[in-house]
Amino acid sequence: MKSDSPKTFHVKSFGCQMNVYDGERMAEMLGAQGYVPAAEGGDADLVVLNTCHIREKAAEKVYSDIGRLKREDGSRPTIAVAGCVAQAEGAEIARRAPSVDVVVGPQAYHRLPDLIARAEKGEKAIDLDMPVDSKFGALPKRAGGQRPTAFLTVQEGCDKFCTYCVVPYTRGAEISRPFADLIAEARALVAGGVREITLLGQNVNAWDGEDDKGRAIGLDGLIRALASEDGLERIRYTTSHPNDMTDGLIAAHGEVEKLMPFLHLPVQAGSDRILAAMNRSHTVDSYLRIIERVRAVRPDIAISGDFIVGFPGESDEDFDATLAIVRATNYAMAYSFKYSRRPGTPAATMDEQVDEAVMNDRLQRLQALLNEQQQAFNSATVGRTTRLLLERTGKREGQLIGKSPWLQSVHVTAPGLAIGDMIDVRITSAGPNSLGAEPLMAEIG
Ligand code: 5AD
Ligand code: SF4
Repeated sequence: MKSDSPKTFHVKSFGCQMNVYDGERMAEMLGAQGYVPAAEGGDADLVVLNTCHIREKAAEKVYSDIGRLKREDGSRPTIAVAGCVAQAEGAEIARRAPSVDVVVGPQAYHRLPDLIARAEKGEKAIDLDMPVDSKFGALPKRAGGQRPTAFLTVQEGCDKFCTYCVVPYTRGAEISRPFADLIAEARALVAGGVREITLLGQNVNAWDGEDDKGRAIGLDGLIRALASEDGLERIRYTTSHPNDMTDGLIAAHGEVEKLMPFLHLPVQAGSDRILAAMNRSHTVDSYLRIIERVRAVRPDIAISGDFIVGFPGESDEDFDATLAIVRATNYAMAYSFKYSRRPGTPAATMDEQVDEAVMNDRLQRLQALLNEQQQAFNSATVGRTTRLLLERTGKREGQLIGKSPWLQSVHVTAPGLAIGDMIDVRITSAGPNSLGAEPLMAEIG
């Protein structure tokens, strides 16, 4: 590489949407430092692996990825490991993978340029601080991108300590970003062409703050304030905890037009005994009551969830109870995982760890039921007219893919459409993962 050409970088994010957001912020910061994105598939001077630690497989992936960064001539890029594996394993990463130059935790990545500079002088630069002064203030201002949708992290960390979960250890305690910062960031995104914002947090509905008049508000207050921003058409939020589903937030689903009819509300399991062992602090009944109340104010709402099968001590009866809560809720979509033993969490040392073969069988049965519900939800939208926000191009000539209010991917083909358009369509077909639609404007023209 010529010494006067700008250095190139590639940020690869794994895991949750918060990591995607962090990856975007790191890319923006590197851009502000004069780095340019490496061409697709090209060789970057700096590679940031923004890792996920939630399950064992995700955590191990980083080591195979590091191995693959070695070039044919034996050289390698500068390698930074960021994200939750960095936080959880720290200096151990650099010992296990000596080619790693920088290890930076999710609360310290605003210091990445400094860490890279130290690494370039031959130091192993490791920063796992969880500083009180928030990283957000130190990051460059957002400009909005080419895309019509964006993530906005409003809350980070978790105080819930579910017994299987590493998040409270890797992301730290719950913090809410200040109202004024969030409004400013949202305005910058909208000015850059963003029409839909998804508010993010490990426990996004635990967000609280003070509005511009000094009144204490919760996530519903923030959503209502954002809804009054011109140019912002759609608001979503994820991920929520059942215990933080306040009356105000439930009411907002019936009152705020820009709040999309979609709720991701993980329940994890359907047996009160297992929920208690998980330290979920809600019951099957209290979960179902929330779903009922949300549906009462917004009957068409799409419900989504997360499930874990094979938590220590889960019996056949407990698992049947999980299938029962799935039937009772009727999900539009959901994620389901085999329990993964995470060192340092209380569940890792619990008796009665469940056999792998049993977990496989349960996961398959759960996913068959969830897939059936997803197909049924999608099929029920056929014939409906609705509005899409077009987000990206499809595989076929002239095809665009947009999202329905219920977060379904919908394919549509018509001349003159562009990414960022909002169009009215009639849904014409439904598969398990995507829908087809025709634009209604054809009937007008
Ligand atoms: N094993 C399996 N799944 C887990 N999750 C969190 N920790 C674990 C674990 N140890 C799942 C939960 C959570 C989602 C993000 O990941 O379902 O809601
Ligand atoms: Fe993990 Fe539970 Fe916190 Fe969610 S609520 S991040 S599952 S500890």
